[in-house]
Amino acid sequence: MDQSFFPDIQLVIQANFFTASFPQEILFYPQALLCIGKNGKIIRIICRNDASYDRYRALFKQFTLIQYPDHHYLLPGFIDLHLHAPQWPQLGKALDLPLADWLQQHTFPLEKKYASVEFARPIYQDMVTTLLANGTTTVLYFSSIHTPASLELARICLQKGQRALIGKVSMDNPEQCPEDYIETDTQQALQEVRDFIEAVRQLPQNETQRVQPVITPRFIPSCSDAMLQGLGEIAQDTDCHVQTHCSESDWAHQYGLDRYGKTDTATLNDFGLLSRKTILAHSNKITQDDFSLIKQQHAGIAHCPLSNFYFANCVFPLRRALEQQLHVGLGTDVAGGHSPSLFNACQHAITASKALQDGVDGSMEAGQRGTQEAAISYKEAFWLASAGGGIALDLLVGQIREDFYFDVMVIDTQHPHSNLKILPDDRPEDILQKIIYNTEHQNIIEVWVEGQKVV
Ligand code: GUN
Ligand code: FE
Repeated sequence: MDQSFFPDIQLVIQANFFTASFPQEILFYPQALLCIGKNGKIIRIICRNDASYDRYRALFKQFTLIQYPDHHYLLPGFIDLHLHAPQWPQLGKALDLPLADWLQQHTFPLEKKYASVEFARPIYQDMVTTLLANGTTTVLYFSSIHTPASLELARICLQKGQRALIGKVSMDNPEQCPEDYIETDTQQALQEVRDFIEAVRQLPQNETQRVQPVITPRFIPSCSDAMLQGLGEIAQDTDCHVQTHCSESDWAHQYGLDRYGKTDTATLNDFGLLSRKTILAHSNKITQDDFSLIKQQHAGIAHCPLSNFYFANCVFPLRRALEQQLHVGLGTDVAGGHSPSLFNACQHAITASKALQDGVDGSMEAGQRGTQEAAISYKEAFWLASAGGGIALDLLVGQIREDFYFDVMVIDTQHPHSNLKILPDDRPEDILQKIIYNTEHQNIIEVWVEGQKVV
């Protein structure tokens, strides 16, 4: 029996788990042994039917074994590919306006307040705690334009154990940004982005780069050409991730067409902002050429199904993205989306895809009403919230798999006060389906990031 990996083990977990490496394929491992390394990664998985399972288990039992009962299931921690941290106080508010008005009347006046770190700190603490409790182990955050509050968010993620990619937002176009929430000196703003990147990389306790900086032009309307150009250069120089909103709504998409005579995707590519490290939020209105360009550059898309119902004027063609094997995951888009839960995002992704397929106007003929073959399944939704997000970010997260980080949540399917009802004749795939549709806060009894229990 090969024991060469023993010295590197921090602990061993015996549990049921679900994971997915491909959108249609769910893997279920009953009572497997997960050997967690001192580096926070899964260094070995020993299946229940492995010939040496019993011998290994007996050995591990002598020192490090944690055993979960049969009604507990591990899932990969979920990955939120798009969330606006400063909009946390706005969760569930003001969703009756179109995007441009919502930004000007509610969102920019709120984000401006993050000039004060004292204002930001308790909000960000509450947000990170709540997101972890919802099973979200990795978040790609937009913060505000303020470096000190953005760094505070990075520190809070490090303290609380969340994996995070954080973008100090860049916005300098006086035609679209309010006078009191704008970066008036573009060159200085670009220097601040460089300084922010360096500062995050150097933070104490960030040796493994669990928290990373992100280049974040808010969206084309809020940035000047010089800003987009400069950020593209910083992306080249620093190899950082890039995030932005892309072709989200009729208005935002048309703005980009009017200004550049091409789609947001093409414009971002021209400015050097479309690469393997880029995540485009929304992308609802993208063309087939955009799809091809995103695929060619190996960039990713954050599908935000809930906020799309409010601001997008349409539904993202998710099935087409999956068929073309684009990198795609899910975002809550807090607070354009009113729920911080990726279980909710899974449910909304399924619902939105069915609405796209069937159409919604009952006065039209059935054959004219919708888009053929647009619906996605719970399996694909699960993959999007886990593996899909990890692949899009190019990080070893989102799968319970050897060499991946041990970032997981533990679901209790017998919580007495919950909507999750597992019955004796439910098969593993029924159980996962019920977990996706009916998990609530109280069912998520533990969350681990990088081999450490954080909830
Ligand atoms: N486009 C530019 N900024 C925002 C934002 O904060 N939320 C959403 N949903 N879209 C945006
Ligand atoms: Fe957004």
